[in-house]
Amino acid sequence: MGALGAAGALRRSHAVALVALAALLLLLLARSAPPPPPRPRPAPVPAPAPAAVPLDSAPPVPPASRIASSTRTARPANTTGHNATAQSAAPAAAAPAPTPAPRRDPRVVLTRDLYVAGHERPHPELCPALGAHLRLLVLVTSAPTHAAARDAVRLTWGHYAARRDVALAFVLGAPPASLRPALEAEDALYGDLVVGRSVDSYSNLTLKTLSMLEWADTYCPRAPRLLKTDDDMFINVPRLLRFAAAHENATRTVWGKVVKKSLPKRTTKSKYYISPLQFPGKVFPDFATGPAYLLTADAIRPLLEAAPAEPYLRLEDVFVTGVLAGKLRLRRQHAPEFYNKKVALHPCAVQRGIAIHMVQYHEQFDLWRKLLDGKTKCAS
Ligand SMILES: *[C@@H]1O[C@H](CO)[C@@H](O)[C@H](O)[C@H]1NC(C)=O
Ligand SMILES: *[C@@H]1O[C@H](CO)[C@@H](O)[C@H](O)[C@H]1NC(C)=O
Ligand SMILES: *[C@@H]1O[C@H](CO)[C@@H](O)[C@H](O)[C@H]1NC(C)=O
Ligand SMILES: *[C@@H]1O[C@H](CO)[C@@H](O)[C@H](O)[C@H]1NC(C)=O
Repeated sequence: MGALGAAGALRRSHAVALVALAALLLLLLARSAPPPPPRPRPAPVPAPAPAAVPLDSAPPVPPASRIASSTRTARPANTTGHNATAQSAAPAAAAPAPTPAPRRDPRVVLTRDLYVAGHERPHPELCPALGAHLRLLVLVTSAPTHAAARDAVRLTWGHYAARRDVALAFVLGAPPASLRPALEAEDALYGDLVVGRSVDSYSNLTLKTLSMLEWADTYCPRAPRLLKTDDDMFINVPRLLRFAAAHENATRTVWGKVVKKSLPKRTTKSKYYISPLQFPGKVFPDFATGPAYLLTADAIRPLLEAAPAEPYLRLEDVFVTGVLAGKLRLRRQHAPEFYNKKVALHPCAVQRGIAIHMVQYHEQFDLWRKLLDGKTKCAS
């Protein structure tokens, strides 16, 4: 038993040595083997890994936005995916690009060619329980440089967001890198900046509105009413809540300052110039002007689904509340309380109105004081 055992041990140690030797040989072979064929990278670029540069030099962003930003140029807009629990990276995992619908004219740019879905900072917590306890969601479109205007809103009528039945967020387009640190600091302080993925610019206003609708549909689909407004607007929130309650049974409706039979500007000098390719008709469909309009929640998803196939129109109000709403046969209801312009700043005008336009920083405080003025007697 002893000898046999010793021999067995010898044979075993022999075998172990053999295995070790074989492994060593394999390793050596692998090492001395010629390097793997030229990198699978198709582009023979002299500079080192160009794709990695923008990411590394970019300021820190949440992982989800990295994923999406690396795919943003390749990925078509997916505004049909509506998954409230989905991460903002979800579009990246979506189905392959749909074959675009046959174009009427190759020069026509469709909205799906421009819109980039998803949000850098989605802040789902702004809308607890997907908005089930809300009566009103207020989304304020703003530009990265408008920090003072946002502060004025927060310090005045934005206070109503402290109510459990009202939520408020600012919706911005993607900022230039130079503004990112300031915006991150602002967001760390207030947590109310929703940042989309299309570059923030005047001609991208329509994209910002779509980003806003996408956020509402993804993170706050149970809020029954959405107010779209801008950061230079004064909103009389209590009046708006009464308005919403008085129309509580309405469906598929847009309320605001409805403009009828407006003509597209065909002179290229106009700030509002619209080429016949963008909008071939002679007259715009009735639309609610952009500074402030109220939507029933059931209008949001149909708008998002209809947008991608439409020629891009940079007048966001005409596009969303006119062209799309018209196709979808949403009701566009004029409400005179949506002044959407500057008004004589009498306390009664403020107290009777819902939305006042062109409000400078200091005017927000003046209007706020007039709204809360308990002394002036106004006829209703
Ligand atoms: C968009 O997303 C939805 C659900 O996430 C998916 O079913 C659909 O195929 C996607 N569409 C595109 C064009 O990627
Ligand atoms: C939403 O997305 C999550 C994760 O991507 C998935 O688990 C869930 O089933 C989806 N829900 C719906 C309704 O599609
Ligand atoms: C947005 O606007 C900028 C500047 O006008 C432009 O370069 C960009 O392509 C536009 N679109 C998107 C999706 O960012
Ligand atoms: C909405 O409908 C309910 C149920 O039919 C009704 O009781 C309520 O008065 C309606 N509200 C308004 C503002 O008309």
